Amino acid sequence: MAALVVRGVPGVLKRAHFATIPRRHRHKKKWAATEPKFPATQLALQNFDMTYSVQFGDLWPSIRVSLLSEQKYGALVNNFAAWDHVSGKLEKLGARDFVNDSISHGELEPESGQTATPSLASGTCSPNLRCFTFTRGDVSRFPPARLGSLGVMDYYLMDAASLLPVLALGLQSGDTVLDLCAAPGGKTLALLQTGCCRNLAANDLSTSRTVRLQKVLHSYVPQDIRDRNRVRVTSWDGRKWGELEGDTYDRVLVDVPCTTDRHSLHEEENNIFQRSRKKERQMLPMLQMQLLAAGLLATKPGGHVVYSTCSLSHLQNEYVVQGTIEFLANQYSIKVQVEDLSYFRKLFMDTFSFFPSCQVGELVIPNLLANFGPMYFCKMCRLT
Ligand SMILES: C[S@@+](CC[C@H](N)C(=O)[O-])C[C@H]1O[C@@H](n2cnc3c(N)ncnc32)[C@H](O)[C@@H]1O
Repeated sequence: MAALVVRGVPGVLKRAHFATIPRRHRHKKKWAATEPKFPATQLALQNFDMTYSVQFGDLWPSIRVSLLSEQKYGALVNNFAAWDHVSGKLEKLGARDFVNDSISHGELEPESGQTATPSLASGTCSPNLRCFTFTRGDVSRFPPARLGSLGVMDYYLMDAASLLPVLALGLQSGDTVLDLCAAPGGKTLALLQTGCCRNLAANDLSTSRTVRLQKVLHSYVPQDIRDRNRVRVTSWDGRKWGELEGDTYDRVLVDVPCTTDRHSLHEEENNIFQRSRKKERQMLPMLQMQLLAAGLLATKPGGHVVYSTCSLSHLQNEYVVQGTIEFLANQYSIKVQVEDLSYFRKLFMDTFSFFPSCQVGELVIPNLLANFGPMYFCKMCRLT
């Protein structure tokens, strides 16, 4: 009772004070405005702390601090520039081509009588890609890319882990390729660097982002190469691709919209953890499944698809892959087989930290010594 009385006094005083303010100067605060306002970056961190501490257990504190720290970049050499000169320049900075260094080491050093990377010999790694990174623990930065002597930019700065889905796609010469969610175009550019595309369809729903993609292509790829690779840029809803061009492509990259975990911790703008985007965020796994299903339907039987995200979330990664495979089997009687990419873990262990226990696919986890990712990628073969 005493407590009630004590609590009641300030309330009475407040009301009395309010009554002394002339009515025209009274501003009633809306109750929502009194709620503490959290920036979206903070909401993202809260969400990750809740879900990822369960998902990753003891690993989460180290992933968390890495995600909050400055990320590392890779310099993808532009093969349409004077690439040997560019590579020399990057070597002088102390960087090394992690792709070719790892592949040549992997092939030279088989473990106890086994071939470490048997599938490389059969060409399942997309060829001709050169990407320089600073070694583990070296946090040097690359200078910005420059216009080279051949009139195109010399290299493209990207999260080096973003190259892994393209390497996993295993392009072969003469492939017809679809990049379903392509903008702003880092992976599209890498696909073209392989020199394997007979034709390349690069699509993104967002017209403003396809403009950025076009700019990247214009700055890095000479017109005659774009013509020779028959590059087609569109801005359609990727979910409809199965109906538009079913059973058509040899290789399809499905790099879906996701919670972009690193971006969501650093940038307020366009942050998917904004309260107003809650519904959109909750619907992401559904959109991801629809896009992956469309990508698989657009693939020829016998063709390959790589699904990728830059999120750590199982719900957006393995569950989407497993759910989509089940859906296609039930609804279309289409059989899809997940391919083993565990040799990537061994091949690229000097450059990236991998999560050791994904059920399907591979996941690069941020680490202070190798602060790339997150990047999840899973390769599938459409069997029927
Ligand atoms: C992770 S980003 C792609 C990044 C790109 N692959 C790269 O490497 O630069 C996902 C993209 O999906 C696009 N997107 C979202 N919904 C889509 C849809 N229904 N169809 C096609 N693209 C979509 C977004 O506009 C966004 O650009």
